[in-house]
Amino acid sequence: MRFALWRLFVFLVAPVAVGLWIYQAWIFALGPDPGKVLVDRLGLGALWLLLITLAMTPLQKLTGWSGWIAVRRQLGLWCFTYAVLHISAYAVFLLGLDMQQFLIDLGKRPYIFVGALGFLGLSALAVTSNHFSIRRLGKRWKQLHRLIYAILAIALLHMLWVVRADMAEWYGYALVALGLMLLRVPQVERKLPRLFRSVQPG
Ligand code: HEM
Repeated sequence: MRFALWRLFVFLVAPVAVGLWIYQAWIFALGPDPGKVLVDRLGLGALWLLLITLAMTPLQKLTGWSGWIAVRRQLGLWCFTYAVLHISAYAVFLLGLDMQQFLIDLGKRPYIFVGALGFLGLSALAVTSNHFSIRRLGKRWKQLHRLIYAILAIALLHMLWVVRADMAEWYGYALVALGLMLLRVPQVERKLPRLFRSVQPG
């Protein structure tokens, strides 16, 4: 099968960060509050994977290599997996599985409400990412999957609320997100293949 090895490579690399963080927590290398560090790192992991997933189409346009598209759905599902683990770590380590506290947080803390909205959106994309849904939804599938841009904005807003004291990192993510959005503007997108040919030697 085409790209089978490449797909397997991505499948093996994507969960490495989670394994590393769990190991670090196990050997007490995550500081005095490992639960909170895990929540933060898994949230960042989900955001990274969202940005990487969105970079696949521009990379394909830029290089002409369809391998990028071959792993796009898998990367989106890894983003969802990291988000599930992020929320699970929050429920276990920060809430002590007190679901009533979750409902209180949802009403009292806007960043939790916004995060939950983002997660709902990611869930809708994850459950419709199979061939059956693509066939069943037809044109509406594409419209639904445009939700990914709103989810990216929501994830950035959620993060902004958390890191208000240290904005430098947030600006970095917002800049990358803005760049990826610009690459989706049809006028820019059309120029990408030409741009790549012009930077190739000869
Ligand atoms: C029900 C949904 C969600 C809940 C309850 C939730 C909860 C949290 C909590 C408790 C924190 C740490 C706050 C702190 O450090 O004081 C956090 C941070 C964060 N979350 Fe979420 N989150 C949710 C959804 C998401 C989603 C969908 C994403 C991304 C796709 C995401 C990305 C992040 C990021 C990037 C951070 C900041 C990490 C850092 O810079 O340290 N979260 N979230």
